[in-house]
Amino acid sequence: MTNAPPRRGIILAGGTGTRLFPITMGVSKQLLPVYDKPMVYYPLTVLMLAGIRDIAVITTPEDQAQFRRLMGDGSQWGLAFTWLVQPRPEGLAQAFLIAGDFLAGAPAALVLGDNLFFGHGLTDLLRASAASTAGATVFGYRVADPERYGVVDFAPDGTVRSIVEKPARPASNYALTGLYFVDATAPAKAARVTPSARGELEITSLLEQYLAEGSLRVERMGRGYAWLDTGTHASLLDAANFVRTLQTRQGLEVGSPDEIAFHQGWIDCAGLAARARLFAKTEYGRHLARLADEAGGGPPTGA
Ligand code: G1P
Repeated sequence: MTNAPPRRGIILAGGTGTRLFPITMGVSKQLLPVYDKPMVYYPLTVLMLAGIRDIAVITTPEDQAQFRRLMGDGSQWGLAFTWLVQPRPEGLAQAFLIAGDFLAGAPAALVLGDNLFFGHGLTDLLRASAASTAGATVFGYRVADPERYGVVDFAPDGTVRSIVEKPARPASNYALTGLYFVDATAPAKAARVTPSARGELEITSLLEQYLAEGSLRVERMGRGYAWLDTGTHASLLDAANFVRTLQTRQGLEVGSPDEIAFHQGWIDCAGLAARARLFAKTEYGRHLARLADEAGGGPPTGA
């Protein structure tokens, strides 16, 4: 096997967020809070846990400045961000066209900027998926309302028969999550996708090409994982409560790029302590301070 360039990440944070109006009339959906962090932190940390450091963030042209204010160039986490825009919400597959130059022949992981994942063994699952550089790996998660998502139709022997975007009559309860590991052929495949009836370049049309080639893997994300929806006012509040419950009970952080960057060795103790100082007035900041302290960096106040 040839040595593939390192996998690159894409966060798609475009869209108009109409289901969260009027809130998202003034601010991008992916910047809304999920308890104590902006929504985009959660998918970002999924890419980080997969070991990915080179990440393109795709936003609408109007929202890019706010995202950049929040996330900068990524160096505070040992990451490198490339800022790209999606002028109109023309479908998820378009992300691979917009990011074609950025990917430059590397395999990719695309994550939707509003998807939250949590679960024991998530890091292992992500690392394993990131390790295979041929074909595509996506995740099926059992939900009560599959018609809202891309849906996987499994044959009795467990192989994938088809994947259908928002089917009126879903063939299974397995929804496709918004996390896609793809090989270097994704931009070429995206270029062959034609707009659907709703006028979008559907991710399912791109995945169908992998399926036709026999190179689509659908991993079932079992019940031990949480894949949370942030698509409605109620589910956004539920997601926030979920994060709050876990963090308060365990004293650990869900979706912290600061903590993960530190654990990955991408920032040092001083870097973590500097972040802790920035957030000194919050429980999040105190958590980072404890972490830096325990790791031997001395009191994070610098005193
Ligand atoms: C998109 C995809 C769908 C996937 C979902 C996951 O839908 O088109 O296949 O199941 O994300 O969040 P959207 O949220 O854009 O309607």
